[in-house]
Amino acid sequence: MNIGNLAIDPPVLLAPMAGVSNRVFRAISRSQGATLCTTEMVNANALAHKSAKSYWLMELDPNETPVGIQIAGSDPDIMAAAAWEAERHGADLVDINMGCPVKKVVQNGDGSALLNDEALAVRIVKAVVQAVKIPVTVKMRAGWDHNSITAPYLAEKFQEVGVKAIGLHARTRSDQYVGPANWEYINQVRERLTIPLIGNGDVKTPEDARRMLESTGADAVMIGRASFGDPWIFRRIAHFLATGGNLPAPDADERAKMALWHLNRMVEIKGEAVAIAEMRKQLAWYLKGTPDSGEFRRRAQTLTTKVQAESLVSEWKHHARDRELTWS
Ligand SMILES: Cc1cc2nc3c(=O)[nH]c(=O)nc-3n(C[C@H](O)[C@H](O)[C@H](O)COP(=O)(O)O)c2cc1C
Repeated sequence: MNIGNLAIDPPVLLAPMAGVSNRVFRAISRSQGATLCTTEMVNANALAHKSAKSYWLMELDPNETPVGIQIAGSDPDIMAAAAWEAERHGADLVDINMGCPVKKVVQNGDGSALLNDEALAVRIVKAVVQAVKIPVTVKMRAGWDHNSITAPYLAEKFQEVGVKAIGLHARTRSDQYVGPANWEYINQVRERLTIPLIGNGDVKTPEDARRMLESTGADAVMIGRASFGDPWIFRRIAHFLATGGNLPAPDADERAKMALWHLNRMVEIKGEAVAIAEMRKQLAWYLKGTPDSGEFRRRAQTLTTKVQAESLVSEWKHHARDRELTWS
C-alpha cells in the first residue's frame, strides 16, 4: 500500500491510541513489524496555546519513520497550524481525528462530532491539506449513529480535496466500544474510494486480519487493543498474510524481556514516577497467559517503583516459564 509517496508494506498498522501509542510503544510495535505507527491524538487547540504536553506528544524518536502525527480539533485555521507543527516535528503524514467518541471531545465539536457537519469537516481537511507537503489521512468512524452512516459520502469528499488515505473504525459514535465492529461499513466506504482504505475494529488474530482484507477490500489493517501486551501481533499477522502459517507465541522469557525494555525506556523518557504510573496497566497486559496470572496483574496495579516492577516481572517469568502460555 502507498500513502502518497510512502510505501507501507506489509500493510499492518498500529492504531493511534491516547495513553498507549507513545514513542516507546511505537518503537516496540515497529520492531515487531508494524509498518506505520501513529501518535496519540494531539489536541490542536492545546497546541495553539503552546501546551507542553501537546509538544511532548509530538516528540518522535530519532529516525522514527514512517510515522503519523494525529491531530484533533474543529477550527480549520487552528488545525492547519497544528498540521504544520506536525510536519515540522518530522511526521511522515498527518492524520485528522474524526472518530473520537469521548464526551468532552465531541462537546467541543471535535472528533466524531465532525461526522455530523459535512461542510466544516471538508473545510478542515482542505485547510490541513493546503498547510503541509506531507500526505494527509483521516481516521473516522462510520457515522454518528446507525441512522446516520455518513462516512462513505464524507470519505469521497475528503478524497476529492486531496486526502491520501482513509482509516475507518467500523463502529459509529453511539456504539462507543460496545458490541462487535461491523465490517460492512468498510465495504461501504471502499465502494466510494480509489485512495487506500485502512480497516480497523476488532482485528484480534492473524485470521481476523486476512478475513478483514478479503471480505472488505481494505488495503491495510490497523490494530489497536489486540496489541496491548502483545506487540508480536504485528509480526504474526504479517507472517500469516505472507505464508498462511502461524509463528509460535513468544515464551515467558521473551515476554518478560519486552516488558522490562518497555519499563526501562519509559523511565528514561518520563522519569520514574510518571513512568510507573503509566506502566501499571502495560505490565498487567504483559503478565498474562497462565491460569494464575490474575494475581500478578492485580499486583501490577499497586506498583510504585521501578525496582518493584522489575521484581514483579522477574517473579512472573519464573512462574510462567515452562507453562503453555495463552494470549489472554
Ligand atoms: C485506550 C485507547 C485510546 C484511543 N485513542 C485514540 C486516539 O487518540 N485517536 C484515535 O483516532 N483513536 C483512538 N482510539 C481508537 C483506536 O485507534 C481504534 O480505532 C479502536 O480501538 C478500534 O480498534 P481495535 O478494535 O483494534 O482496538 C483509542 C482506543 C483505545 C482503546
